[in-house]
Amino acid sequence: MKRPLIVNGFMASGKSSVGKRVAELTGRPFVDLDSRIEARFGAAIPRIFAEQGEGAFRRAEREELLAVLGTPGEAPVVAVGGGCLVRRELRLAALDQAVVVALQVTPEEVVERVGSDASRPNLAGDTRSRAEELLELRADAYHEAHARLETRGQSTHDVALKALAVWKRDPVAVASGEASYAVDVGSGVGPALLLASCEPSTAVLLISDGNVAPLHAAALEQLLHGAKKRLARLDFVPGEQNKTLASVQRALEAALAAGLDRKSKLVALGGGVTTDMTGFTAASYLRGVNWVGLPTTLLAMVDASVGGKTGVDLGEAKNAVGAFWQPSAVLCDVDYLKTEPERGYRSGLAEAVKTALIGDPELFELLERETAGIAARDADLLTDIVRRCIRVKARVVSADPREAGLRAVLNLGHTVGHAVEAQAGFERLTHGEAVSLGMIAALRIGQRLGHTPADLAARAQALLEKLQLPTAIEREPLAEAAELIGHDKKRAGSQVKFVFARGVGDVITAPVDLSELRELTRALAT
Ligand SMILES: NC(=O)c1ccc[n+]([C@@H]2O[C@H](COP(=O)([O-])OP(=O)(O)OC[C@H]3O[C@@H](n4cnc5c(N)ncnc54)[C@H](O)[C@@H]3O)[C@@H](O)[C@H]2O)c1
Ligand SMILES: [Zn+2]
Repeated sequence: MKRPLIVNGFMASGKSSVGKRVAELTGRPFVDLDSRIEARFGAAIPRIFAEQGEGAFRRAEREELLAVLGTPGEAPVVAVGGGCLVRRELRLAALDQAVVVALQVTPEEVVERVGSDASRPNLAGDTRSRAEELLELRADAYHEAHARLETRGQSTHDVALKALAVWKRDPVAVASGEASYAVDVGSGVGPALLLASCEPSTAVLLISDGNVAPLHAAALEQLLHGAKKRLARLDFVPGEQNKTLASVQRALEAALAAGLDRKSKLVALGGGVTTDMTGFTAASYLRGVNWVGLPTTLLAMVDASVGGKTGVDLGEAKNAVGAFWQPSAVLCDVDYLKTEPERGYRSGLAEAVKTALIGDPELFELLERETAGIAARDADLLTDIVRRCIRVKARVVSADPREAGLRAVLNLGHTVGHAVEAQAGFERLTHGEAVSLGMIAALRIGQRLGHTPADLAARAQALLEKLQLPTAIEREPLAEAAELIGHDKKRAGSQVKFVFARGVGDVITAPVDLSELRELTRALAT
């Protein structure tokens, strides 16, 4: 457990006792944030509220939490006050730097446990209606967590064991209000966590494709049967050309034929095509059911598994039909990558390089250093790589769930990349190969416009070559590709929001005139 465990939840949800119990079970230090603040002010909380005001309390709370998160050494268990993670900015920092469990309580339980405790200034007056009101106001603060744990009818010890299990799993959280979820990464996490991810559903539709199912579906089916789940199966015909409404219709019909209701789960086992289509099926079946993603390609793990974009192609128009619909859980089992075809695997590495450039210098160095382990698909190494990519993407997506702006950085290498991919008829180049070429284009254009230092461009090119990804952008038919720039959805009028790299982990977006960008792209030929 490298990151601290934060125990969050409403007043009287049992945060301190659960936190203390986890600390006892693990021998880790326990930090009660409220006690720290009381010590700092030399006064009890009601007095701090009365004399200094809630604002001063919240500022101190924020500073204390960030100090705990930034302290090196053994990661502690931290119980925070019920209002501490209400501010989203602090909550996102906590979700990034710690594992957060939120203890669930109902207003009735709060009344039962608190009575009319005068030491809780926020519950003054009619305790029950005040609790109801605050729980509603703070819903997101308790939904956006690595896990939500029920406390009703359970002993402190039992809840502590559950919190400890989450801490040990160390998943990545994707914060998306009520639709928040966790992504687990590791060798064997598919079979290990599938059943828990399907709870409490009794019926499951497992969707895979004709290549992946014969390799990996049987083990999961056996598990689901063993747990007495009602199970139906559907295999898509593999390939992007089958990422269509017709395939989704087949999946919808399979769900209906299997008698799935609102509480059932769809489980996607496959690459990005399967997860995108299963997610879209889940978004539309009965106006929305839960789904669990088990991505089996590197691309689907590092990119498609986070962000909640689901959908299908409409003829030539990629991803033209779809919905934002978050999975309820994602299990990235790196063992599945052992059977991924080589070219697809290499293509996935292009997105990993992109992600490292956007937000993780250590990942960039890891990719530079571990060429042999990457080629051998070493499970521990892949766990580290995939987890780091997901963490960067989760950070970006959590801060911009509906693609209002910040998410645009994820488009690094994709503006020219999409154009060369389209020019090649979506056949000669894979998406990742096109992104590799597109990153070279973005770095060189960045150099021309004074955003990108020459040594950064050289370093990124060397890494892509080491990973056996194409970099010879000058050999692409650039005049034709240039005409295709801006044909995707990312354009605003005559300008394109272009992503420039200034350093590893340091990217900016800036508008560029479409005509100028086309000219700069043609000029890459020389
Ligand atoms: N939703 C998003 O945010 C997002 C992000 C990136 C990409 N995508 C989508 O993902 C798709 C591309 O994903 P992909 O590259 O995973 O394609 P894919 O699903 O077509 O998989 C590639 C091929 O590998 C096979 N395969 C998959 N896993 C395997 C395994 N473990 N062993 C053996 N064979 C395996 C598949 O059957 C297929 O033939 C595109 O449609 C793209 O639009 C979505
Ligand atoms: Zn991409």
